[in-house]
Amino acid sequence: MQSFGGTWTLLKLDIIGKYLAFYTNALKNQKFKLCYIDAFAGSGDIDVRGFGNIPGSALRAIDYPFDKYIFIENDNNYARKLSEAIKNKRFDKDISIIPGDCNELLETIYSVSWYKNRWRGVIFLDPYAMDLKWASLEAIAKTKAFDVWYLFPLSALNRVLQKRGNIPKKNKSKINDLLGTTEWEKEIYYESPQLALFGEQEIERISIDGIKKFVIQRLKMVFPAVSEKSLVLRNPLNRSPLFLLCFAISNDSKTAIKLSLKAADHILTHTELL
Ligand SMILES: C[S@@+](CC[C@H](N)C(=O)[O-])C[C@H]1O[C@@H](n2cnc3c(N)ncnc32)[C@H](O)[C@@H]1O
Repeated sequence: MQSFGGTWTLLKLDIIGKYLAFYTNALKNQKFKLCYIDAFAGSGDIDVRGFGNIPGSALRAIDYPFDKYIFIENDNNYARKLSEAIKNKRFDKDISIIPGDCNELLETIYSVSWYKNRWRGVIFLDPYAMDLKWASLEAIAKTKAFDVWYLFPLSALNRVLQKRGNIPKKNKSKINDLLGTTEWEKEIYYESPQLALFGEQEIERISIDGIKKFVIQRLKMVFPAVSEKSLVLRNPLNRSPLFLLCFAISNDSKTAIKLSLKAADHILTHTELL
């Protein structure tokens, strides 16, 4: 079983669960077939420090009435455990567990025909760190069929964004992949108005709130609608920012956007921060 997380893990699972309940109910009388994709699916159960064993996102999603579930996991051992956990629970549903890197699999998601007109769905992107490439979000956006919950790795990004901007090449390329642009340096760093002691220019970094705005603005360049209510999930012990829970819609129908955004905004603003 995987061991990770804390109160923020419970919070994120609660939010996704509420959205899946809303989504499957809102679309139950529509002509669409419904698909749930968990691209960082995990091993089934999670051992959350201080809370014991709880079902993770994939096992929880199966409780909601989707027509198809796709679980992607790049750790073969975890993928096998997830498969066993599903077998043990004897769910009689259409479930595919795909071992592999979700970035490679999502790259072609818009080119498969099953989603066209007949399918709608929700994708949950729940990486530990900077594992999701921006190109995957672009591919999802092109489907025009999926609502997306993305747990953006604020703390992992924070760690590689050194204060003065002295970032090694390898990390720069990882940030380029994460944010889908090389322009982030211009947005994230700025010259301090105060000159340093010996006159050289000090380079400052924007705040976590600034990074949050930047990420939302980047998502808006790809998706027709993005929630402004993204939640910064913090470590309750020291309040350090860990993740940014974002919501985006790939469907460009005004009615779909209005309905989904209203529900997501409501859930994001009415869920107790632990
Ligand atoms: C935070 S855990 C996901 C937990 C899961 N959503 C849950 O609630 O139980 C992240 C998972 O993604 C997997 N992973 C990391 N990089 C991946 C990638 N590129 N493609 C697919 N899975 C990946 C890890 O092995 C790990 O199991």
